[in-house]
Amino acid sequence: MSLINALNFSGKKVLVCGASDGIGYGVAKAFLEAGAEVAITGTRTESDYDNDFSGMQFHSLNIEDPAAISNLAAQFDRLDVLVNCIGSVLWKKAEFEREGFEKILNINLTGAMQLCTDFFPLLQASQGNIVNLDSVVSISPAPANPAYSASKAGLKQLTKALAMKWGRNGVRVNSLAPGMVPTKLTANQSGADNEAQFAKTNPVGRFGKPEDIAGGVLFLSSPMAAYVTGHQLVVDGGMTL
Ligand SMILES: NC(=O)c1ccc[n+]([C@@H]2O[C@H](COP(=O)([O-])OP(=O)(O)OC[C@H]3O[C@@H](n4cnc5c(N)ncnc54)[C@H](OP(=O)(O)O)[C@@H]3O)[C@@H](O)[C@H]2O)c1
Repeated sequence: MSLINALNFSGKKVLVCGASDGIGYGVAKAFLEAGAEVAITGTRTESDYDNDFSGMQFHSLNIEDPAAISNLAAQFDRLDVLVNCIGSVLWKKAEFEREGFEKILNINLTGAMQLCTDFFPLLQASQGNIVNLDSVVSISPAPANPAYSASKAGLKQLTKALAMKWGRNGVRVNSLAPGMVPTKLTANQSGADNEAQFAKTNPVGRFGKPEDIAGGVLFLSSPMAAYVTGHQLVVDGGMTL
């Protein structure tokens, strides 16, 4: 096929999980602009958020609840692209306690696995693909966040395992590792003073934006990446160099 229209997602159905805010919301808006039919999830109900979800189908999802993931999948009769932007982190040493450690692994890794497996039949039917948002902490861990670091390294390898398993089924599975993007997840690290400090050593000289990440996600999920699977695309302005 011609690649000139590869970023036209008209006729494609895309689910962006964890798109009530932050990176996922930016990814969902980019897919909408690219012509896709877009469904999104957040933990609360649609009216609880300030963001404008016009043109998107909103679903409530707590990924810690296995039945909720299955119920979400049951509401779809087709899907071309699954993007998992769900992520959580705990502070104040909570990830050093078993309860906190398990909670973060459950949200960032175990829940991600179930999302992928529950939507696999629809993605096989459409010859679609998955993009999981992992993190640069899968490369260089965050010592205050052992669960977050382990879960993201796990998600990177989970992505590769599923890519190997499902390649012959026609389903590509990739991950994208953002660097530092100011969102509610990173609120305690992303003020103006932090950005000025970060800019001194980051090759691109600024924090990332949701649209920087959206560009990578759209590439991975488009025909431009038809021969790309099991790949971790690092989108960090050179932070990890
Ligand atoms: N921001 C960064 O610098 C950065 C860097 C590396 C990787 N990442 C990854 O990028 C992804 C997006 O992060 P973000 O920065 O955009 O964070 P964010 O603004 O906090 O968004 C996280 C999303 O996940 C949802 N979520 C959280 N806990 C959930 C749960 N238990 N069940 C279902 N959904 C849940 C949130 O829903 P609610 O809004 O309802 O809470 C929200 O939609 C995450 O996987 C994160 O780990 C971010």
